[in-house]
Amino acid sequence: MIDLTGKTAVVTGGSRGIGRAVATTLAAAGARVVIADRSDALRTDGASTSDVITAAGGIAESVLLDIADSQQVDAVFGDVATRFGIDILVNNAGVLSAGTVLETSDEAWRSIFAVNVDGTFFCTRAAIRHMVDAGKGGKVVNVASISGLRANPGFAGYCAAKGAMVNFTRQVGIDYAPLGINVNGVAPGFVETDMTAIYDASIRGALEAQTPNGKWADPQQIADTVLFLSSQLSNHICGEIIAVDGGWLVGTPVVPVASAVSA
Ligand SMILES: NC(=O)c1ccc[n+]([C@@H]2O[C@H](COP(=O)([O-])OP(=O)(O)OC[C@H]3O[C@@H](n4cnc5c(N)ncnc54)[C@H](O)[C@@H]3O)[C@@H](O)[C@H]2O)c1
Repeated sequence: MIDLTGKTAVVTGGSRGIGRAVATTLAAAGARVVIADRSDALRTDGASTSDVITAAGGIAESVLLDIADSQQVDAVFGDVATRFGIDILVNNAGVLSAGTVLETSDEAWRSIFAVNVDGTFFCTRAAIRHMVDAGKGGKVVNVASISGLRANPGFAGYCAAKGAMVNFTRQVGIDYAPLGINVNGVAPGFVETDMTAIYDASIRGALEAQTPNGKWADPQQIADTVLFLSSQLSNHICGEIIAVDGGWLVGTPVVPVASAVSA
């Protein structure tokens, strides 16, 4: 039902994790995918995301980009727009660092905002500039977090940055709704990626217990929602954030879910 043939998608941070699943999913739906990451284009082992997509019969290329550098962003997006146009942007690249405010240095704060907030802004502006010029509408999907919709103890910078992404999504979502550019976001819960490999078994168990369906997400489950928001099926959704979190934001269990249900 979702056919993105003829569309070009830029996926930031697509060399691994959620971004890789997003890139392969959009490509499987027919899109040409440009993976813009600070590492993917450097891979020479045949295992870059674009190599994987191409081997599966899709159309993809990897571009080296630090999204925190607005000049690089404008140059890369200008080049992609000239060659293919830009129909879809997925702002997925992000970084995580822990710390209360007293544990957060100036440098750590600036670095988390530079990627998650500034980078999202630079890429969104560059893509929307071309979407407006082309006059065909478009899709922007921001990968925020449950940490942008409620507090997450010990993650001051990350929660503030993801919160900024969430309201940025809403704002841009209404500004460009009249032009047929849908700007929406997903808020993943806990997802099995390199980013969350920092958690040891006891923390993982505690987080599972706090999640109503008792599970972490597979990156593919986030990608499936991004695919929906990148498609014509989401044409009437503007500035919305969809949580993909096993029910975590809706209600954290105070007793294990299974015993609550059987009681
Ligand atoms: N994993 C989770 O549980 C989880 C939960 C909620 C939200 N998220 C968000 O999902 C997104 C992807 O997370 P992930 O778990 O796949 O992370 P990851 O660390 O596995 O992958 C992040 C990717 O972003 C790229 N990247 C980082 N900084 C960049 C920059 N300045 N320029 C270009 N590329 C850059 C990295 O090279 C990497 O490929 C992030 O925005 C993250 O905050 C993740």
